[in-house]
Amino acid sequence: MAETAKITIGGKTIDLPVLKGTTGPDVVDIRKFYAESDAFTYDPGFTSTASCESKITFIDGDAGILLHRGYPIGELAEQSSFLEVCYLLLHGELPTASAFTDFEHNITYHTMLHEQFDRFFQGFRRDAHPMAIMTGAVGALSAFYHDSTNVDDPEQRMISAHRMIAKMPTIAARAFKYFRGQPFVHPRNDLSYAENFLRMCFSVPAEDWKPNPVLTRAMDRIFILHADHEQNASTSTVRSAGSSGANPFACIAAGIACLWGPAHSGANEEALNMLMEIGTVDRIPEYVQGVKDRRYRLMGFGHRVYKNYDPRATVMQKTCHEVLAEVGDSDDPLLKVALELERIALSDEYFIERKLYPNVDFYSGITLRALGFPPEMFTVLFAVARTVGWIAQWKEMIEDPAQKISRPRQLYTGATHRPYVAVEKRG
Ligand code: ACO
Repeated sequence: MAETAKITIGGKTIDLPVLKGTTGPDVVDIRKFYAESDAFTYDPGFTSTASCESKITFIDGDAGILLHRGYPIGELAEQSSFLEVCYLLLHGELPTASAFTDFEHNITYHTMLHEQFDRFFQGFRRDAHPMAIMTGAVGALSAFYHDSTNVDDPEQRMISAHRMIAKMPTIAARAFKYFRGQPFVHPRNDLSYAENFLRMCFSVPAEDWKPNPVLTRAMDRIFILHADHEQNASTSTVRSAGSSGANPFACIAAGIACLWGPAHSGANEEALNMLMEIGTVDRIPEYVQGVKDRRYRLMGFGHRVYKNYDPRATVMQKTCHEVLAEVGDSDDPLLKVALELERIALSDEYFIERKLYPNVDFYSGITLRALGFPPEMFTVLFAVARTVGWIAQWKEMIEDPAQKISRPRQLYTGATHRPYVAVEKRG
């Protein structure tokens, strides 16, 4: 017999079906709960709520496992490429050689922006934060590519997915160039996704960008590590925006706005600032004491879901070593501080008890800085990578027959019904 959960409320016992996934915790189906009990459930921050059914990404935070379509993130980061991971997230399977050639061609040949789109950037103040530009510019894509905004047409959904994955690096690089006061660099179809992006960011008319396989591979791997992460805040925002039938470009702009918040993606910048503030290895014990005295938190440590080593942090640490060695910064004092801080924290009772482990942001700030990016670009790079996750989750939502407009209810604690008081009678 199918398992049920029982809730007794107001003297009535309600049977709720228990749903089983392929792995992970069971889910109590409360869809009929309100109709049968006249009560709501309360879960701000959704810490106990599964908002949807999904086949894309699985996280086991206690075991430190992250799987995309079943494949472990470590294996994808080591053996795959970002574009192959994009295909996997969108289609559910790794591509055959010919399917991948077609996909790569589709993405590569959609990297250019409409010529009038470039004028759009000129409207921003010259010192605009690149994320402010991203939020506005990506939302504006729906005005330029209105021909692929019919969410009911599967072909148009796929075209808009390809367009977004392809154009996001071009928009991000333009946001960076505008912020730097340098001329825009157009994409080139003979370069790989990561190469193209690095070149659009770092090439200037006076000097072309020099290809470097180690740095290109690092960029590609950083994109893989950030490609998707289940129902996080920005992904839930994209699904929520899309649940009303809004077009995909507008939904991704909503995701970018959510991502910008410091609680979501700002931690790598803060982790870098923290390492700079500590400065040298001998100052670590004093800093760790400050964390234990609760004067501040150890940035890049701890995670809402991972209560074990974030599997992305393992890859990021390795990538960090490779990049620093390549740019001749193996002796970077910040890397020494990071390694020693990690060693001390992982053997300290305070951190062990609270299951605080390094997360992906602990090493990403040092790595991105070594690649040449200023902190203002860190969240932008995250947005470029996460676009495929957002769009895959958006597609899955649209294609789910159980999908409904996101419309939560509330626990109302405001004033109850009272009559309007004319202004001259208010005390
Ligand atoms: N340093 C020191 N103590 C910490 C840290 C930290 N980084 N994180 C949590 N704790 C402690 C808390 O003080 C608390 O201790 P207590 O039980 O004695 O009061 C306990 O661990 C639990 O903390 P919560 O805030 O309840 O944990 P939550 O799961 O809500 O927080 C979060 C997760 C926000 C990521 C937190 O660990 C944090 O602030 N980390 C630093 C910021 C950071 O690195 N964020 C990046 C996340 S990864 C990403 O977004 C890609």
